[in-house]
Amino acid sequence: MKSIKRRSFIKNFALGTSASLFVTSIHAKLLTPSEMEGPFYPVKPQKDTDADLTRVKGRTSIAKGELIEVFGQILDQDSKPIENMTIDIWQANTFGKYDHPDDDKPAPLDNDFQGWAIIKSDADGRYKIKTIAPGAYPVGDGTEFRTPHIHFKISKEGYVPLMTMMYFPHHPLNAQDGLINRKTAQETELMTAKMIGRTSTNFTQYQFDIVIEKL
Ligand SMILES: [Fe+2]
Repeated sequence: MKSIKRRSFIKNFALGTSASLFVTSIHAKLLTPSEMEGPFYPVKPQKDTDADLTRVKGRTSIAKGELIEVFGQILDQDSKPIENMTIDIWQANTFGKYDHPDDDKPAPLDNDFQGWAIIKSDADGRYKIKTIAPGAYPVGDGTEFRTPHIHFKISKEGYVPLMTMMYFPHHPLNAQDGLINRKTAQETELMTAKMIGRTSTNFTQYQFDIVIEKL
């Protein structure tokens, strides 16, 4: 009898300890920093806004560029996954050009690149897109570049809407990027995806989790 009591004490003590550690860690989620929308949010009506940006409905060839898969989970500050979040994603093509009337850079358009997706997170708060690695593009007098990035606009009733950008780890242009340089190292880390590996179909995989504030 004594030993049973002792065992259950040890068990409860261990559970209590791990539970309190858990409670400490789940409240430690830092919010994903916000960033400006930028001038190239899509304005042309587009029928195809699904999660595969490498293909445009009705066309047979696929987008030019390095194939990538970006996936992640949308969480609130208490680490609770958020389902049915609207995730609005847009980016430049492999040449650094947006399909936008105000993008007057000489870089070419790619008619096989979708460039824009509006998707929803699933029941576990997860999302996944197939796309290509966006190109860098010149800004200002052309001596500086916007490092490759993907724009995200995330919203759902009951949460603070988030506008942000995802960066690529170890990209050589990150260090000279004007917007990254206005962020702290911690903020930049929260906005930088993790490279995970490569799929059997040759997509480089990146994980980008997003933490959004519950109202
Ligand atoms: Fe941009």
